[in-house]
Amino acid sequence: MDRYVRERIPASVIHTLEADYQVLISKKYKVSILTKSPTKTKSDLSHNRKKTYILEEGEPIAFLVELGIMSEEGKVFARKYDKFKQINRFLEMVEDVLPHLPADRPLTIVDFGCGKSYLTFALYHYLAVKQRRQLQVVGLDLKADVIEHCSILAQKMHYDHLRFLVGDIADYNELDQVDMVVTLHACDTATDAALEKAVRWGASVILSVPCCQHELFSQVDSPVMEPLLSHGILKERFSALATDGIRAKLLDLMGYRTQLLEFIDMEHTPKNILIRAVKGSAGDRAKLWSEYTAFRDFLNASPYLEKACKDLLPEGS
Ligand SMILES: C[S@@+](CC[C@H](N)C(=O)[O-])C[C@H]1O[C@@H](n2cnc3c(N)ncnc32)[C@H](O)[C@@H]1O
Repeated sequence: MDRYVRERIPASVIHTLEADYQVLISKKYKVSILTKSPTKTKSDLSHNRKKTYILEEGEPIAFLVELGIMSEEGKVFARKYDKFKQINRFLEMVEDVLPHLPADRPLTIVDFGCGKSYLTFALYHYLAVKQRRQLQVVGLDLKADVIEHCSILAQKMHYDHLRFLVGDIADYNELDQVDMVVTLHACDTATDAALEKAVRWGASVILSVPCCQHELFSQVDSPVMEPLLSHGILKERFSALATDGIRAKLLDLMGYRTQLLEFIDMEHTPKNILIRAVKGSAGDRAKLWSEYTAFRDFLNASPYLEKACKDLLPEGS
């Protein structure tokens, strides 16, 4: 990179749906273009227009009123505005993956670690009410009191095909076929347990926002990286990013095309990376595997997801 100076144009990275392009000009004015995987979705790229949300403020939306996000007149409460934006951002992500979901039959969607289920209700509302899709949605969480609260609300809303269950992701064996798995802010390796379930179902779409990626923190060990790993805060951030890089590569290896996207602005939450994986080949498996193992071994890591999915990965793992 030091051989290059960035071109003096307002945006040095050009985002398109197919790829991100960066224009580089060397000191001898040789121009080259660096091509990377796309980081923006269709909805990101429409930012020049006035921001329109999928769920608009002004009209009362029953589930948002019930969840205390907007008033009965449809005004979003100031203290809930970030949540309102997050819900809309999530729905934009769902809108973007609609073409990857089966269109000829009812959908089955599981939300692992649904918690208070703001996003689960939003997902159901968007698909069942706005898109008029036939579907069943299951929200699963460890917390019985939260699940009871969500079940009561679903009944009150007459969301007849939205069910909430108490349980651990790793033990959930109720369904044989699932089209989309959502897992938002499930802690540490709970995300990996959800990814494993999704892959074994052959889900067409996976949307996952990881959080609290602690697993690699206690594993990473690389003398070359001592200047970074010797600082706790840097080690923690690096371990979280490396975990998600590893997850993406493993998903690619198991038959998905995986992108890491910005979920919500950094100013609102540091938990802002969304793993979006859709069924399809990500390329040469032998190459992917050698990239993965080189990175894993360099870090001295032994990731949960690789161990859980050993039978789905190339020999020798
Ligand atoms: C931070 S909350 C996120 C809630 C919701 N998905 C959201 O994004 O607003 C994480 C939730 O994951 C649940 N959870 C963590 N590990 C789990 C597991 N192994 N099985 C089921 N739920 C789990 C927790 O109980 C908690 O409600």
